[in-house]
Amino acid sequence: MSTHIKDNAYFAKTVLMPGDPLRAKYIAENFLTDYKEVTSVRGIYGYTGKTKEGKEISVMASGMGIPSIGIYSYELYTCYGVENIIRIGTCGSYQEECRVGDVILATSASSNSNYASQFDLKGGVISPCSDFSLLLKAYNHAKEMNIPVHVGPIFSSDIFYDADKDYYKKFQALGVLGVEMESYGLFLNAMRLHKKALCILTVSDTFVGKEKDLTQEERQTKLNEMFKLALSMAD
Ligand code: HPA
Repeated sequence: MSTHIKDNAYFAKTVLMPGDPLRAKYIAENFLTDYKEVTSVRGIYGYTGKTKEGKEISVMASGMGIPSIGIYSYELYTCYGVENIIRIGTCGSYQEECRVGDVILATSASSNSNYASQFDLKGGVISPCSDFSLLLKAYNHAKEMNIPVHVGPIFSSDIFYDADKDYYKKFQALGVLGVEMESYGLFLNAMRLHKKALCILTVSDTFVGKEKDLTQEERQTKLNEMFKLALSMAD
């Protein structure tokens, strides 16, 4: 059925997508019941199970970067009947108010990637954005769960170790909240295929404040908060 995901794997309508395959495994093992590993091609683990409220959900890794999430999200949407993909990842903060450990809901993603060149927009640009119904639902759930969130634009970079150390300042000046490496590709695929996508991020490091990066231990507790919010999105 697809090139990079196991044939006939069963996925729920909503798939949570961390970048890291071991994080997908962690979520299945710690938050799902009746779950089954449905794919592990190239070590990209995917699981389908139930939330503690008994709602069906899947979790599968995206790998790192736009090309990788571009492949997996495309195949999930087109070959496995998936309707909603919710990226759950970490980001570097570009704004002082986005502190290490905080949660961001991305409204849109800008990028230095050429992923949109496939659409030949004749000099036009497309602005990939999250689905409003998913965004609103996540925002309302975060309020109910007492999880403070920042809502705004993010930057999906093709480069982690940028040679220009000040590059972030241009996006910071434009009010972009933070940087990760996948959402632009996910949002574009969803727009192209008329499906839904959302991105929920936890700030793991900062370009602007003096705060230290999240430690391994803090990472786990803070990420658990985001995972619970993402799991509440199951229908
Ligand atoms: N840059 C890009 N991606 C990231 C970062 C970062 O600083 N932190 C977490 N994901």
